[in-house]
Amino acid sequence: MALQYTQCLTKNKTKMPEFQKKTVHIKDPAKVEEIICGLIKGGASKLQVITDFDMTLSRFSNNGKRCPTCHNIIDNCKLVTDECRQKLFLLKEKYYAIEIDPNLTIKEKYPYMVEWYTKSHTLLIEQRLQKDKLAEIVRESDVMLKEGYEPFFDKLNEHNIPVFIFSAGLGDILEEVIRQTGVYHPNVRVVSNFMDFDENGVLKGFKGELIHVYNKHDGALKSTEYFTHLKDNSNIILLGDSLGDLTMADGVPNVENILKIGFLNDKVEELLEKYMDSYDLVLVKDETLDVANSILQKIL
Ligand code: TMP
Ligand code: MG
Repeated sequence: MALQYTQCLTKNKTKMPEFQKKTVHIKDPAKVEEIICGLIKGGASKLQVITDFDMTLSRFSNNGKRCPTCHNIIDNCKLVTDECRQKLFLLKEKYYAIEIDPNLTIKEKYPYMVEWYTKSHTLLIEQRLQKDKLAEIVRESDVMLKEGYEPFFDKLNEHNIPVFIFSAGLGDILEEVIRQTGVYHPNVRVVSNFMDFDENGVLKGFKGELIHVYNKHDGALKSTEYFTHLKDNSNIILLGDSLGDLTMADGVPNVENILKIGFLNDKVEELLEKYMDSYDLVLVKDETLDVANSILQKIL
């Protein structure tokens, strides 16, 4: 066993050039190697992926220009009035600053997130958005998935690895993005805020309990049926961009090895230490899935 472990360490060190990139920050390299060894040993049959969507699978920016979240796809679309757009923009200005404020605790941010989502979703409902227009607004948007998304999703599908996309974005928009990019494979499950439409296909509310940036713990526990069904998939790769995403695997009953990969996109200087304390691997301003893909390459 000990020998196997040493061999595994040596193999990783010499064969993972993606880890040498300047964007990769690791607080405890030995721990990361140990986790990756565990993931490699477990192979495909033990693996599952739990991932955030906005700014994790989708890009934060492209050529210096910010890319939209699921919500922003609607904020920017032609179906909302300019007055509504302005209100949504002001909400984003105020509450996004709180979402990423390095000086506030999650507990302090929590009520503000509820306030943001409540106000923003109320505005969307007032706009009487039509279900059959969503595909078009996604098509016309600037949303982009991270470089390397195709091999990422395709490989996971090829090996039947369950992928749980857990997003505080908008489920209907998210699904449309992954459908249009051709990666909504049968191994992918989406848990998010789904719109509720009336009999004419007009937005009238949202289904289920609100998922916001900092209550993913509660949402994860509501998905116990899904995770219990995957009880043998005790090795997890978790991908997120917010400190709230760290709780996405809280519903998994038996975790053997978990590798937490965090994308740090904004307020890098102020947040890097906190991210390195919380995520095993921190990727600073990385608009690719190269690191995740290189790990998958080793496991599968
Ligand atoms: P995620 O869980 O997939 O990252 O999605 C949540 C993101 O959505 C989070 O970063 C905040 C963002 N958001 C907006 O961009 N606009 C909004 O109106 C709201 C409520 C959230
Ligand atoms: Mg996110």
